[in-house]
Amino acid sequence: MAAPSSNPALAPPQPALSVNSNPAHLDPLPPSVFTLPQTAQLEALYTIIRNKDTSRGDFLFYSDRIIRLLVEEGLNHLPVVARTVETPTGATYNGVGFEGKICGVSILRAGEAMEAGLREVCRSVRIGKILIQRDEDTTLPKLFYSKFPPDIASRYVLLLDPMLATGGSAMKAVEVLMEHGVPEERIIFINLIAAPEGLTTFCTRFPSLKVITGWIDQGLNEKAYIIPGLGDFGERRYCT
Ligand code: URA
Repeated sequence: MAAPSSNPALAPPQPALSVNSNPAHLDPLPPSVFTLPQTAQLEALYTIIRNKDTSRGDFLFYSDRIIRLLVEEGLNHLPVVARTVETPTGATYNGVGFEGKICGVSILRAGEAMEAGLREVCRSVRIGKILIQRDEDTTLPKLFYSKFPPDIASRYVLLLDPMLATGGSAMKAVEVLMEHGVPEERIIFINLIAAPEGLTTFCTRFPSLKVITGWIDQGLNEKAYIIPGLGDFGERRYCT
């Protein structure tokens, strides 16, 4: 048998590091929460976007890679129906096709960064927008603007927001979607990093809504930033 190589590049792949990864930060995971497979590759992508010294170009490139994985995972949760096609060989293939129509809804402004990733996968997808900000008088999340496809009530909605901190904006966004006739179980919330506090509150309030998250972090600091997190996603992405 060959001796193990001393070249680290040729060393056998190591399992994903477990020190930072979930679900250690939320055990047990609510049944409606699905994380991306916690692989070493995914952890490497997160390490790049978490690094405060990462350039804007790299932040865009690597956060887009994670977004693409998240959108693909979100689509895995859409229902399918049987569909039979004939292949060029003349054979019949009994497969499946998506059952319903979908749309994206981004929570402004950070959620807009996830729209391109959704469009790459679903070419002509309709995308709505929702702007929620803290009401200075009540300190509660307040709806400032929303624009949805007119038939949103009959679509599956992929709700897009990269950071789930306290969950306040996401819960308000779901309330608004439900007021527009979208049933809770037809909404899939997609995000890059979740804080256990926000995730627990969100899933307790909307138990039939699926959450696809890339990583569950340790918690929130006193300013409601996710720790270790990546800072302000909008600022990192747009540099403003
Ligand atoms: N929004 C962000 O952009 N970052 C956080 O850590 C929390 C909310």
